[in-house]
Amino acid sequence: MFVISTTALQKNAAILREVKDAAGCHLVLALKGFACWKAFPFLRDDLDGCCASGLWEAFLARDYFKKHIITYSPAYDEGDVTELCEFTHHLDFNSLSQWYRFREQVMAHPRFLSGELLCGLRVNPECSTGDTALYDPCVAGSRLGITAEQLAGQDLRGLSGLHFHTLCEQNSDALETTLTAIHEKFGHLLHSPQFTYLNMGGGHWITKPFYDRERLIRLVRETREKYQVDVWLEPGEAVAIHTGVLRATVMDVFESAGHRLAILSISATGHMPDVMEMPYRPDVFLVDNTSPGAGRPAVIMDGEHYHPTAATGPWTYRLGGPTCLAGDVVGDFAFHRELKIGDTLIFDDMAHYTMVKTTTFNGVKHPAIALQHGDGSLEILREFTYADFRDRLS
Ligand SMILES: Cc1ncc(COP(=O)(O)O)c(C=O)c1O
Repeated sequence: MFVISTTALQKNAAILREVKDAAGCHLVLALKGFACWKAFPFLRDDLDGCCASGLWEAFLARDYFKKHIITYSPAYDEGDVTELCEFTHHLDFNSLSQWYRFREQVMAHPRFLSGELLCGLRVNPECSTGDTALYDPCVAGSRLGITAEQLAGQDLRGLSGLHFHTLCEQNSDALETTLTAIHEKFGHLLHSPQFTYLNMGGGHWITKPFYDRERLIRLVRETREKYQVDVWLEPGEAVAIHTGVLRATVMDVFESAGHRLAILSISATGHMPDVMEMPYRPDVFLVDNTSPGAGRPAVIMDGEHYHPTAATGPWTYRLGGPTCLAGDVVGDFAFHRELKIGDTLIFDDMAHYTMVKTTTFNGVKHPAIALQHGDGSLEILREFTYADFRDRLS
């Protein structure tokens, strides 16, 4: 079961609100990272809206968040643009060929003519600040965003915004470096009165305790003043980090070639694919019914203070899922006691970039989704059945 803490979500939202108010910018939730729409009421008051990666996320933003909508996709088709023109507030394009293809259609729309719909272009500042190529839109040959060289001499009529997204789980020093490249390569455009907004994308780890929020505030203020533009931030992870866990049950325990193995009710590839894709190693907690305090709700979340209780000890197990994929393994984890069939394990930080990526591969039962409220009560939002697996396939 995925369990999301409403208290932790509200804590993150409050931090984000404080930052955006101090910086004088707008901040929206990137739905690609967290799209559990029944939790939107716990974010809506503090955030300005959502950023959508395409038509379906934009629908979700329209129907359930009901605030500002920024849509950016690497490519739209005609149907997407026709529908998006009716309700998105920013429509950001990835390439000049896409913009030129749809420009006349968009610019003739009444919402564009009234100023309710603004259009922007994603740019590539060619300034890599991260270590992982998979998450670097600035790598040579990147398909994300247009370079300053490609923009030179082009007809930019109708555009009023620039959008860059280059960071991933980074501090504001990386933003500072990126902004230097933006000033150098795109400053001349931002200085022109035609451009009224700059979207600084996501990847800002704002709600992490060590994140330098003062520097972010200074950078946003400086940029706003320098160019007289509205600044937008669109974090996903910073909204949902440390707000959710995935509860698993130990289904079998045995040994192979000197390894202790545990098969769980949840799958790495099916239910937490970033463990394999990113890759990353979640903290794991054993809910120990034999220890003092047993019987409390099996969720340990108050925002930031649970790492010291992560499982550790002499009993090491390779934790894997119930699929046929040989590599469906979360990793090797140590516990203070032997694992038993029926034990509950909790994987930390499973709200962002997990629930949005799950599958029903192998027909493995999809975990239910629940909210944990401030009084400790659990509200089950959704349980999945065989019909959900069946109906997605035809
Ligand atoms: C265009 C864009 N905006 C925002 C985000 C959100 O990033 P994060 O969840 O790292 O804050 C992403 C993530 O890939 C993105 O591609």
